[in-house]
Amino acid sequence: MGRTKINVILLIILKLFLVDTTTGEETCENDREMDKLCGGHTYKSVKPLLDYFKQVRNELDQSEIKEKHISEINADLMIKYHEIVGIHEKLMKEAFQLDEYKNKIIRKENNLQLCQSKVDKLESEINSQQTTINQLTLHLSDKSNKLEICENQLKKLNSSVIEKDEKISGYSATIQNITEYQKTISLKLEERLTMLFKKDKDIEICHAEIIKLNRTSHNNIPSNCLPFGEHPGVHEIEVSGVGSFDVLCDSQLAGPGWIVIQQRIGGEENFTRDWATYRKGFGSLDSDFFLGLEKMYRLTSQQQYELYIHLLAEDGNIFYARYDDFKISDEDHGYALSLGKFKGNVWDAMRIHENMKFTTFDRDNDLFYDNCAVWNNSGWWYNDCFACNLNGLYDEGLYCSESANYLKETKMLIRPKEDKNK
Ligand SMILES: *[C@@H]1O[C@H](CO)[C@@H](O)[C@H](O)[C@H]1NC(C)=O
Ligand SMILES: *[C@@H]1O[C@H](CO)[C@@H](O)[C@H](O)[C@H]1NC(C)=O
Ligand SMILES: *[C@@H]1O[C@H](CO)[C@@H](O)[C@H](O)[C@H]1NC(C)=O
Ligand SMILES: *[C@@H]1O[C@H](CO)[C@@H](O)[C@H](O)[C@H]1NC(C)=O
Ligand SMILES: *[C@@H]1O[C@H](CO)[C@@H](O)[C@H](O)[C@H]1NC(C)=O
Repeated sequence: MGRTKINVILLIILKLFLVDTTTGEETCENDREMDKLCGGHTYKSVKPLLDYFKQVRNELDQSEIKEKHISEINADLMIKYHEIVGIHEKLMKEAFQLDEYKNKIIRKENNLQLCQSKVDKLESEINSQQTTINQLTLHLSDKSNKLEICENQLKKLNSSVIEKDEKISGYSATIQNITEYQKTISLKLEERLTMLFKKDKDIEICHAEIIKLNRTSHNNIPSNCLPFGEHPGVHEIEVSGVGSFDVLCDSQLAGPGWIVIQQRIGGEENFTRDWATYRKGFGSLDSDFFLGLEKMYRLTSQQQYELYIHLLAEDGNIFYARYDDFKISDEDHGYALSLGKFKGNVWDAMRIHENMKFTTFDRDNDLFYDNCAVWNNSGWWYNDCFACNLNGLYDEGLYCSESANYLKETKMLIRPKEDKNK
């Protein structure tokens, strides 16, 4: 194109020059004449230029053709250019669409990648879950094995428990049986015991009956407890001067055959009594009593008697005092006391009462300026007044020497002294 423009400019310059020198086509026909006219050195100097102009003119002609051609081509080109522009626009549009598609694709790809990563993640999760499931399955099978073992053991235990239960029920049945048997046996035993007790009593009664019968058949009532040594308790004796009366025989405290002449075991009897009552005796043989001074005199005047004094202190200590020649004088002599030799585990407190007459609140035989029986609430062989008073007030005055203070039980027993010559 640049070249064409330069040519066009040259062409214009050349035309202007030619117009000044020549006048159209008729000049060309005059060339030959000119040649002939100007044959000298003018012609010779202008000739190359004229040749050149000729050439240029030809070229110009040709270039005009070419230019025409070119403009045609240009027009073509313009058309083509427009076409190309259209195509370019189309292309641009398509490129834009392509870009859009590309973006879409990229987006889709991103989504796809996202999705893929999600899928991957899910896959890995699934994998881990699968492994977990596998592990769990393993565990489960392990557990189910163990469970089976456990169930077997349980079954075994259950059967053994059932066995044991059966045994236990068997045992408890036996135990019940035995218990019932025991009950019947103990009932029988009780029955037998009561029967035995009854028999014992019967035997006792029988024996007493026999003794009575023997006595009546021989008309011979014992005068003391010696015949009842094997069977202590209440028996009838007969003593000359006072006749027959019941006495309590004791074989426990100091051997067999003792007559109990005084007893304090519960404090139920009033020992503040007058002379006549002490003479006769009072109280009941199964609790507290005093046998009576007259009976004691009659008994001890028949033969030699020994005296055994039993003392039970509040603290549980037991004392005794024994005299080998116990005797009571007759009423005229005031039932004065004789003792004999002492033996015992207590101080010989009765000794100060030896040879003393008996004193009651209504008969004062003591050595005290007043009546000891009044002061000390009982009849006794008072001196000035006493060292031992077994008839004193129960809980207050029952006293026999300092070593046997606070007595809760006292007994006086007599028994014929064994004749050593026999
Ligand atoms: C134990 O055995 C008894 C009797 O065979 C049955 O009834 C019970 O279900 C069993 N128990 C168990 C825990 O197996
Ligand atoms: C219970 O004991 C009696 C005899 O003592 C016996 O005959 C019976 O069979 C026993 N019963 C049981 C369940 O042991
Ligand atoms: C009956 O009395 C006599 C004479 O006292 C005596 O020898 C005899 O042993 C007594 N018999 C019985 C069974 O007590
Ligand atoms: C015991 O007897 C005497 C004389 O009979 C009487 O004065 C006294 O009140 C009686 N004591 C009791 C505790 O009954
Ligand atoms: C006994 O009488 C005397 C009075 O001589 C008195 O001192 C003493 O306390 C009396 N004892 C009892 C236990 O009554």
